[in-house]
Amino acid sequence: MTTPAVQARAVCLSHRGPRGTVSAVRDASLEIAPGETVALAGRSGSGKTSLLMALGLLTTPDSGTIHIAGQDTSALNDTAASALRRDRIGFVFQSFNLLPQFTALENVTVAHRGGMRAGAEDARRLLEGVGLGHRLRHRPHELSAGEQQRVAIARALVNGPGLLLADEPTGNLDAGTESEVLDVLARQATEQGCAVLLVTHSSDVAARADRTLRMADGVLRPGNHEAPQEPQDDPHDPSQDDPAPASQETHP
Ligand SMILES: Nc1ncnc2c1ncn2[C@@H]1O[C@H](COP(=O)(O)OP(=O)(O)O)[C@@H](O)[C@H]1O
Ligand SMILES: [Mg+2]
Repeated sequence: MTTPAVQARAVCLSHRGPRGTVSAVRDASLEIAPGETVALAGRSGSGKTSLLMALGLLTTPDSGTIHIAGQDTSALNDTAASALRRDRIGFVFQSFNLLPQFTALENVTVAHRGGMRAGAEDARRLLEGVGLGHRLRHRPHELSAGEQQRVAIARALVNGPGLLLADEPTGNLDAGTESEVLDVLARQATEQGCAVLLVTHSSDVAARADRTLRMADGVLRPGNHEAPQEPQDDPHDPSQDDPAPASQETHP
């Protein structure tokens, strides 16, 4: 059996603020295999980002365990957690979070574990892989939104992570660009055997994933792709005579 790229068991995470405590993730468990792409759907405020923060070791859950490539992360100190995050986990956010004064190449190189000098060749190769070989010296403001997100994808992959966490990565892009960026993300991640957890509101995007998880009120469940049902070809299928409720959600 292959070791999951990420395994979460009974993870709970709450946010404490001046207006009380919000229970953002409740008892979430999941496993993603190397090379598998999982879509994460759910309404705004349902806890998707909180879950990604926990899986990405950007925050410590209240309870539960997270294994990254088989390694239990609960006992790690901050330094060890940062090193594991840098070496094993890539992040892509809705806002591209590129450094404005740096070129595309520098934005990727700066994330390399080997530093600017050692990382330049890997960074160049990755930028070529996302179709930006001709934009290495451009700064973020000289790039389109889709190009900026492709730089961010190259940056996320520069250390060959086993897990890519993408939080609404195409939320700021138009439909055509979305499709392009997702193709790049899927192709690069698959080539590296990287597991991908992809937060999305788009059923088209979810339909491309190997499976979908759904969050509601902090609770994680398997979900369907919510792709529109194809009409059956069989004209005698009696079920087609019963119009289905328009917006029925199915939870197993
Ligand atoms: N830093 C924070 N402090 C307090 N509450 C927060 C914080 N971050 C998120 N929350 C709350 O936690 C819940 C889940 O938020 P979030 O994980 O961002 O959901 P999603 O990504 O699905 O929109 C929401 O009710 C949100 O208001
Ligand atoms: Mg969010």
